[in-house]
Amino acid sequence: MKRVYIETFGCQMNERDSEIMSQLLVSSGYIETFTITDADLVLVNTCSVREKAEQKAYSLLGTLKKMKVARPSLLVAVAGCVAQQDGAGMLKRMPHVDLIIGPQNIYRLPELLEKASDQTPKKQIATNLSNSFVIPPFLPNMKNQSTFKRFVTIMQGCNNFCTYCVVPFTRGREVSRKKDDIINEIKHLIDNGIKEITLLGQNVNSYGLDRPNEQDITFPDLLRAASEVKGLERIRFTTSHPKDLSEDLMRCFQEIKTLCPHLHLPVQSGSNTILKQMNRKYTIEKYLDKVSELRKYNPEIAITTDIIVGFPGEKDEDFEATMQLLESVRYHGAFSFKYSDRPHTKSASFSEKVPENEKTSRLARLKSRQDEINLERHRQYIGRKMKIMIEGTSKASDGQWTGRTMTNHIVNFDGNPDLQAGQIITVIITETCQNSLQGKQTNDFNG
Ligand code: SAH
Ligand code: SF4
Ligand code: F3S
Repeated sequence: MKRVYIETFGCQMNERDSEIMSQLLVSSGYIETFTITDADLVLVNTCSVREKAEQKAYSLLGTLKKMKVARPSLLVAVAGCVAQQDGAGMLKRMPHVDLIIGPQNIYRLPELLEKASDQTPKKQIATNLSNSFVIPPFLPNMKNQSTFKRFVTIMQGCNNFCTYCVVPFTRGREVSRKKDDIINEIKHLIDNGIKEITLLGQNVNSYGLDRPNEQDITFPDLLRAASEVKGLERIRFTTSHPKDLSEDLMRCFQEIKTLCPHLHLPVQSGSNTILKQMNRKYTIEKYLDKVSELRKYNPEIAITTDIIVGFPGEKDEDFEATMQLLESVRYHGAFSFKYSDRPHTKSASFSEKVPENEKTSRLARLKSRQDEINLERHRQYIGRKMKIMIEGTSKASDGQWTGRTMTNHIVNFDGNPDLQAGQIITVIITETCQNSLQGKQTNDFNG
C-alpha cells in the first residue's frame, strides 16, 4: 500500500479539489496518511491569491526538497493555482517536483502519476487551461470525509478580472457544471446521510451564463432545485459578486427555508475611486442599497465580507471611506488583507504603491474596529434560542460540544453526552467570545 499526504492551501474550491484528488488516489490504490514523514507521495494543493499564500507553498516545497534528498523515492506533486501560474517554470526553483497539475487537470492525476513513477519516470506537467473545459460528473466518496456537510462545485473560473486578482489566470474562464450532474451529486450525498451542502464557485451569481443555449437556468433556479432535494436540511453558497446579486437571489433568502441566512458579499473597499481602479463595477451606494434590500427580504441575514487595504493609490481619505463602511454595514464578520502584487494582474503595474508600514497600520485599525463590531453583533444573540447543527466536540473548550447556527456562527455549548455530529438541536445563547458564542442545550424552540 502506498501512502499519500495531502496539504491544502487556499479557498474552498481547493478544499473540494483536494477531496476529489484524494478519492482518485484511493481508487488507484493509495491510502491517505496524516503524517508527512510516512508518505510515498506528497501532494501540495496551492493558492496564489496573495504573495503570502504563494510563499507558504514554496516554503513547504523547500522542506520537501530536503526530505527527498534523504528519501529519493518520495514523489512530490503540486496542484492548484501556483501550479497553474508557474507551470514548468516551477522546476527551476524546485527541480525535485515530479508532477505539476493545474485546476482543470486534476481528474488526470492517476494517469499522470503512473507516468511519473514508471520504470523511466518523466516529469509530468499538465497545466492546459481551456475555455471549453467541461467539469466531469463525479460521485463523491462517502469515506474519510465529513459525514454531515459537504461542498459541491457548481462552476469553475472567473470572467471578472478585478485588477488585483490572479484567479482568472489560474482558474480560467467561467465554466458551469450541468444542472443534472449537480443535482445527482447532491442526491447521492443526501442519500448517504449528508445534511448540509455548500454550493461553490468564484462567482456563483453568474452560474449558467456561459452556456446560454445548453441550459437556460440561472443561479436562483439552481438553488431552488437543489433545495428541493428530499432530506436536505441546510444549504449555503459562496461566493457572490455584488454586481450580479439579483433581486431573484435576494428573494431566495425569504422563500427557501433551508437556505442559511448568511451571505458572504466581498466589498473590497469603501471608496468609489478605489472600486473603480479595482474594476469591481459597482459603487458603494449601489452596494449599500443591496445590503438594505437583502435585510428587507430577511432581517436575520448575517453579511460577511472581504476587504483589501493598501490597494495602489489608496489615500487616507479612501481608507477612511472603508472605515466608514464598517459602520454603515456593521458586518457579522470581515476577512481583511494587505494588498499584494500578483503575476499577470493589471494592478501590479499601477504606480503609487502604498508603503508596507502604512498597509500594516491600516490593517490593524480596520481589524480592531471590526473585532468590536463582531462582539457587538454577537451580544445581540444573548438570551436567544438558536438552532445549531452539531459539528463535534469543541477543541477550544474542554468537555463542550461545538456547532454552527444557520447564520454561520460557531457555538460552543454544554449538551447531552449522546449527541452526534450532524444533529440539529436548539441552544440558548448565554455568552459571547471574540470568534464564537457560548450556549446551553435546551429542548424547546420558539423561534
Ligand atoms: N471570488 C471571490 C474571492 C476571490 S479571492 C470574490 O470575488 O470575492 C478571496 C479574497 O482575496 C478576495 O475577495 C480579496 O479580498 C482577496 N485578494 C484577492 N487578490 C488579492 C491581492 N492581490 N492582494 C490582497 N488580497 C487579495
Ligand atoms: Fe478575483 Fe474578482 Fe473573480 Fe473574485 S470576482 S475571483 S476577486 S477576479
Ligand atoms: Fe487561491 Fe486559487 Fe482559490 S488563488 S483563493 S486557491 S482560486
